[in-house]
Amino acid sequence: MPAEYSVSGKVALITGALGAIGTAIAQKLLTNGAKVVFADIRDVNEGTELVAKYNNNACYVHCDVRSSEDIANALRHAVATFGRLDILVNNAAVFTVESLYRTETFAAIQMGIDVNLRGPIEFSRQFVQYIWEDKANRSGVIINMASMSGCMPTRGIEVYAATKSALLNFTHASKSLAPAVRVSALAPYYVDTPAVNQSKGLAKSGIIKHQLVVSTEQVAEATVRTIQDKKSAGKAYVLIGNWAVRANLFIYEFSFIAIMVVAFFSLFVAKVKGIGPPPEFVQSQDALTRDEKKTK
Ligand SMILES: NC(=O)c1ccc[n+]([C@@H]2O[C@H](COP(=O)([O-])OP(=O)(O)OC[C@H]3O[C@@H](n4cnc5c(N)ncnc54)[C@H](O)[C@@H]3O)[C@@H](O)[C@H]2O)c1
Repeated sequence: MPAEYSVSGKVALITGALGAIGTAIAQKLLTNGAKVVFADIRDVNEGTELVAKYNNNACYVHCDVRSSEDIANALRHAVATFGRLDILVNNAAVFTVESLYRTETFAAIQMGIDVNLRGPIEFSRQFVQYIWEDKANRSGVIINMASMSGCMPTRGIEVYAATKSALLNFTHASKSLAPAVRVSALAPYYVDTPAVNQSKGLAKSGIIKHQLVVSTEQVAEATVRTIQDKKSAGKAYVLIGNWAVRANLFIYEFSFIAIMVVAFFSLFVAKVKGIGPPPEFVQSQDALTRDEKKTK
């Protein structure tokens, strides 16, 4: 079995593909011999320009990731055009640039959660169904584009950070789908995109933050490497500064170890101090055991 998953000859669907990072990922995949379905809410000349530019190796489909029907249609379109679908890149997102508590409306909160979280979850669900039902028994890869703001509390962009944090958790929770479907995530720091360059926060933030900014090319390179890496299931890769392509921070492995250490320490303290579980819990456990005996 080859050590690396080859993207050559595979078909990838990218949501939000007309954005800065989506386009860079699409180009990198095309350079590596994949075919690409550009899915976006923003329409582009019915995709004819893209198809011509990429020599029939690309196509466009209108897709609002908030709509389950649009998602189903995008999957159908990919298979109808290229005969198969192997890779899903959940990249579409909306940014919340102001603090929730100052300016955001209910509609903006709903939009942030629907595009950044419900969309990727529903797209993943439909993609996994497609792979499971695929008669050729092919496997699939999902890349969730999270953000470093999902790895740590980020003030000022609460809704955005919360959705990205949830997306990382969702990625880790989907690990057991491998090997049929390998789900991974990328968590970039600020990326050199028009949206970020115009942001007031970064403009004020000084030289260190600027040196850590990641390029769209680095995100694209890391995306392709993660797709190729057969050991990436359930993992999240943080991309920051020059370490963009190499830094692998397995945040959930670290948090799992930390929680285990705390749990064992708590058990140890409870044992030393002779602290038992609360009496109501012991009684309810006894009742459960009695019920089990009755049913046998
Ligand atoms: N730019 C950064 O600094 C940065 C940092 C970390 C993570 N990210 C993540 O990278 C991804 C791409 O970001 P970007 O900087 O290229 O943003 P972008 O705004 O350039 O692109 C986002 C794309 O998503 C599309 N989109 C928006 N709503 C949609 C919907 N409902 N359905 C389908 N498409 C929709 C937009 O039309 C746009 O083409 C996002 O998930 C973002 O959270 C970006």
